[in-house]
Amino acid sequence: MAANQLPNRCRLLISNLSLRYTSECCSPIRISKFTCCLWKRSLHVNRANCSSVKGPLLQCIRRHSIKDRYFCTSSSPSRQESSNPEKLTETELSHLCDDIKKELNSSKSNLGEISHYLFDGKGKAFRPMTVLLTAKACNYHCGRGSEVLSPQYRIAMISEMLHTASLIHDDVIDAADTRRGKPSVNNIWGQTKSIFAGDYVISTASMMLAKLGNEDVVILLSQVIDDLVRGEFMQLGSKEDENERFAHYLEKTYKKTASLLANSCKAVALLGDCGPSVTERAFQYGRNVGIAFQLIDDMLDYISSDKLMGKPTSTDLKLGLATAPVLFACHTYPELNSLIMRRFSEPGDVEKARQLVAKTDGIEQTKYLAQQYCQEAIRQINGLEESPARNALVTLTHKVLNRLK
Ligand code: FPP
Ligand code: MG
Repeated sequence: MAANQLPNRCRLLISNLSLRYTSECCSPIRISKFTCCLWKRSLHVNRANCSSVKGPLLQCIRRHSIKDRYFCTSSSPSRQESSNPEKLTETELSHLCDDIKKELNSSKSNLGEISHYLFDGKGKAFRPMTVLLTAKACNYHCGRGSEVLSPQYRIAMISEMLHTASLIHDDVIDAADTRRGKPSVNNIWGQTKSIFAGDYVISTASMMLAKLGNEDVVILLSQVIDDLVRGEFMQLGSKEDENERFAHYLEKTYKKTASLLANSCKAVALLGDCGPSVTERAFQYGRNVGIAFQLIDDMLDYISSDKLMGKPTSTDLKLGLATAPVLFACHTYPELNSLIMRRFSEPGDVEKARQLVAKTDGIEQTKYLAQQYCQEAIRQINGLEESPARNALVTLTHKVLNRLK
């Protein structure tokens, strides 16, 4: 079969899988038996035509350049405009950071200054953007127009505050010296003040949450704080058994990253009084996009650069963390198991793991898995009435998959 005879669906899949390799990690793309099986399942390729598909798949991947892979589905400019996540949320996002800083109004010490530092409007605002679009899509579906209600906007603020607080703490744990392209909070003010600043942001967010006066929503966002702590704690351990290890990794990923999106999306659906099935769809959209987001983050830790990401990269292995790329690589190189169990702590472990990952298709498999989660997110959100916000949520999944920072 020639590459240009591959079915459209197949080319789409490859377009989504195409990756940029940095100079440190420009291994040739390899397709393992495992990935081939995943693709066969997805593309309905049978045993007889598998080997004839594998060659063209490789050719297609190599041909795809970074420029033409942002939107893999062809849509008209007007549709792209009306489903643009940034455009649809620009009004709310233009004052979100200022509104957060007004809440963080401690003037007594430099607690105010420290806690304001990361709310400079230079972050991706991915969480509040997702929450605002979910609110708009749910409200539209329920016949309430697509304006964001005030309590829903407060959830967008709270989601950004919890996220930022967790990053302030995370940078202390990881001893990271940069965040969002500038010196991290701990780099400037030291560990102790950073921990207090993170606590202060969480306590202010908790106060805002309580003031919403909705018990169910308070429980949802309190669960997020619980999950953030448990997820980060789970990251300190690993499982001996390979299958359990992947399940542990995915559960940790949900708690550490996806719970915030899932429960915030659910909260805005609840506040819009949208009913149980819409609320569940909002939760599932957030859950699936959240897991995909962290999978891509874990992939970028291997293939991106500090400059592009605005934070330290190539750090997970050094911190002892076995994320998806190395867990996938383990299928091909079982000797990685012992390195994972000792958290890459012996001299040469990090370099060896990095080299073995580069020899496998662990990076592509990570992206493929993220794509599967995004497909499920799209399936869930497409159960709502079509609207610009719903289309923007679909666009957001493409952005999650193809982001470089
Ligand atoms: C970034 O992970 C960190 C998180 C997504 C969550 C961190 C959670 C805590 C530190 C628990 C404390 C919780 C609260 C509520 C304060 P990463 O290190 O993989 O990503 P990075 O590369 O952006 O640092
Ligand atoms: Mg970190």
